[in-house]
Amino acid sequence: MKLTVRKKFTAKTVVIPCFQDQRPCCMPEELAEVADKFFQSKEFEGKAGTAATLRLPGQTHHNLVLAGMGKEEDFTAEKARRNLAAAIREVVKLKAEDLDICFDCFGGKVPAADLGLAIAETALLTSYKFDTYISEKKPWQLDSICLVGADAEVADSLEQGQLLAQATLLARRLVNEPANVMTPAQLACEAEDAGKEYGFDVSIYGDDKISALGMKAFAAVARASEQRPRLIVMRYSGNPGSDEILGLVGKGLTYDSGGLSIKPTAGMSYMKCDMGGAASVIGAMSAIAASKLKLNVTAVVAACENLISGSGYKPGDIIGSMSGKTIEVLNTDAEGRLTLADAVHYTIHEEKATRIVDVATLTGAAVVALGKITSAVVTNDDNLYVKLEQAAEKAGERVWRLPGDEEYKEDIKSEVADLKNTGQPGSAGTIAGALFVGSFTGDVPWLHLDIAGTAWTEKEQHYQSKGGTGVAVRTLFHLANSLAQ
Ligand code: BES
Ligand code: ZN
Ligand code: ZN
Repeated sequence: MKLTVRKKFTAKTVVIPCFQDQRPCCMPEELAEVADKFFQSKEFEGKAGTAATLRLPGQTHHNLVLAGMGKEEDFTAEKARRNLAAAIREVVKLKAEDLDICFDCFGGKVPAADLGLAIAETALLTSYKFDTYISEKKPWQLDSICLVGADAEVADSLEQGQLLAQATLLARRLVNEPANVMTPAQLACEAEDAGKEYGFDVSIYGDDKISALGMKAFAAVARASEQRPRLIVMRYSGNPGSDEILGLVGKGLTYDSGGLSIKPTAGMSYMKCDMGGAASVIGAMSAIAASKLKLNVTAVVAACENLISGSGYKPGDIIGSMSGKTIEVLNTDAEGRLTLADAVHYTIHEEKATRIVDVATLTGAAVVALGKITSAVVTNDDNLYVKLEQAAEKAGERVWRLPGDEEYKEDIKSEVADLKNTGQPGSAGTIAGALFVGSFTGDVPWLHLDIAGTAWTEKEQHYQSKGGTGVAVRTLFHLANSLAQ
């Protein structure tokens, strides 16, 4: 998609953002009259998330799409994204190929650069649909969008927004691909391709290296599947003079059946999304490297399937881990924390990460606590959490911090091993899962994002498509950007 700025309206389809109960400030003259009449009729009042299309056959601008922006005093970049998305959905229905958007009509409350970013993100994210396996695809594509009236500098933020959206779409696609396609080996190939395209190094390790490294917890989870595991390591060196390395670790269960602690069918059908954390860190790496941020980032994914076979691990087993800690497995469905335990240990001790963020579809309890709107966070570092909150705000994503106090660790103490992989039924499951992973990070500043509720959606809404959401890609990018300053 081409995203540009210009001073004049030329496209057949024009989007005019309108604040609630205000006549839009500017629009092509020939459209003003018809829009005014429409406004007076009160059929469209500019309410947030509403959009109306006026068809004007025979005129230069065939289609006028009015995009409700809600009250001007409440306006934010995220409101621009969500509200503009409704208008973009109208544009999709119109099958318009070129689009002009009036930039001045967004008013002056949100800085132009933030708006440019938001508009580019919205255009790409809203028009995405996972249709790889549909034989008869609709042959339509929105080719170009022009922000009419925007200054030349806005073009840079349009480019940045486009990049962030592409990285998010990459994550969405990786999640949407079915598990029979997106195997651990395929996920590794995808990371390699992203590395070539966006500029980071990728190393891929198989069974031999996983075993040589002593990643016994990861290996135990991977054991039952014929699709062999991959340890995927992505390295970006944007500040070679510094020893600081941001480690990003993504849960990479390309499928989670629950293992012997098998999931009910209803909960199993979308467990291809259990590599959502991996998708997020691959997407984030892509955006970070393509933007040439001045910091070092190493992203790690321990990719495998959690299946059932005679060789699988069992409830009651006591397994080892790369750190040397032993783990009593009480539930084979609490597998993500086992793979993450080894992945974070590897990232800190072998890759020398000095800060670590893990992202995982870890617990159903996170969905119970925060629904499908907000990702749960547990951390050992208040300052890093403030940076995460600011990054999430910039991305329009929600995070909420849960406590990680010592007392909660009682839940993962075992009588027969150093740790056990589940707490008591009915206890704070998201915190227990997080603290299990945190038991392998030592004193390194650490953030844990549980995206079980936010990585997948059944609802098409605002700039979200059905399926993988690509959550955390843009938040991680903004976090890395703030650490690079
Ligand atoms: N992958 C699931 C968590 C999940 C649930 C992701 C819903 C996305 C949506 C994870 O591996 C899991 O099964 N966790 C168990 C842990 C429990 C056995 C302690 C859970 O949350 O039920
Ligand atoms: Zn599980
Ligand atoms: Zn899982």
